[in-house]
Amino acid sequence: MANQKWHRKLLGNRTLSPETLMMGYGYDPFLSERSLKPPVFQTSTFVFRTAQDGKEFFELAYGLRQKRPNEEPGLIYSRINNPDLEMLEDRLAIWDEAEANLTFASGMAAISTTLWAYARPGSVIVHSGPVYGGTDFLLTKILPQFGVTPVGFPAEGGASAMEEAVGKAREMGPIAALYLETPANPTNGLVDIGRARQLADPVPGPGGRRPVVIVDNTMFGPLYQTPIALGADLVVTSLTKYIGGHSDLIAGGCSGTTAALDPIRGMRTILGTMCDPHTGWLLMRSLETLKLRMTAAAEGARKVAEFLAGHPAVASVLYLGFLPNDHPDRKIFESQCKGAGSTFSFEVKGGEKEAFAFLDRLEVFKLAVSLGGTESLASHPASMTHSDIPADEQLRLGITPALIRLSVGIENPDDLVADLDKALRH
Ligand SMILES: Cc1ncc(COP(=O)(O)O)c(C=O)c1O
Repeated sequence: MANQKWHRKLLGNRTLSPETLMMGYGYDPFLSERSLKPPVFQTSTFVFRTAQDGKEFFELAYGLRQKRPNEEPGLIYSRINNPDLEMLEDRLAIWDEAEANLTFASGMAAISTTLWAYARPGSVIVHSGPVYGGTDFLLTKILPQFGVTPVGFPAEGGASAMEEAVGKAREMGPIAALYLETPANPTNGLVDIGRARQLADPVPGPGGRRPVVIVDNTMFGPLYQTPIALGADLVVTSLTKYIGGHSDLIAGGCSGTTAALDPIRGMRTILGTMCDPHTGWLLMRSLETLKLRMTAAAEGARKVAEFLAGHPAVASVLYLGFLPNDHPDRKIFESQCKGAGSTFSFEVKGGEKEAFAFLDRLEVFKLAVSLGGTESLASHPASMTHSDIPADEQLRLGITPALIRLSVGIENPDDLVADLDKALRH
């Protein structure tokens, strides 16, 4: 697939925008019967021209020797590489402003494979909270079974809470990673990525390597936040959400430098957590409309948030566009984020009973977990996505029984407001 012409990011002196490059970057139609769109390379394995080719491809894939100048990795087997995934990964790296990207079978596959690649028995992972329920389970229930200890800090605690957690973790063992979810799901709490990198820089991790800074960018996607430009080493994303964007696939991605991705690539090959070719193809289709979808959803979300903020049955609205000037997250929001996104939570007045009554009355919003699709969804984090977290810890993290998470889609925002108004009125 490697042909310079199809990998150009410049038009003369002009750097082409990601949304322009999504229409064809990395794909040579003349290698595929001149088909405008890439085919789905629905194959498990690839034919070698010669046995020597096979030997050389494996040497490179298994890291048995260094890459020669201009040598491209040869296609071997779809657990190792596949043309659809290679094109998709090139395009995701463009959005994430990264050197490279790897795609996975789910967001959790991306997160777990990344952490397996860097954690070692006896090491510590410092993480923000709340994090997505599945990530929380991995950090607090699964990794400790392998001798990896999590040290959490609340996103709302600001830089001092993160500093304290790093200090505490240093006493406990080598720090393998600083894992941040910012904005946090479902509270939209923010963590300062640049500060995390400053804290990680002088700390020796396992094997003398400093801890890697990993950011889960699922809630904002690359349109509203580019963590690598802010100091992160690796950015993990559930592609199931905004990138897929149509609630019809499950996938994940991890971007970073080629060197930082190397151990993750090896781990993915052996765990078999890669994305499949058809899903990869669907994701390339989705990337063509990513900016349009996310921009429309963000505009709708602002209207919805404005309506909720003025409603007497609503206790609070955790929408980042409304952060008061004196809020500690305001400075981070302004320096780190390019928009407020379209997933946010709010609290109804009352508790679980009132929240459930509201959810059951919605008609245009569908009562479902997940986010980032073209359609609007509403869910109850305390009893659904974050129900694994003990009740007292939920409260400490701001996940109250009255909290409802909305993912605003691209419907007419006035229809969404009418739906919320009807459900809140009773
Ligand atoms: C912030 C965040 N990270 C990770 C995940 C996991 O992604 P997936 O469901 O694709 O495994 C989710 C899923 O909801 C999420 O919201």
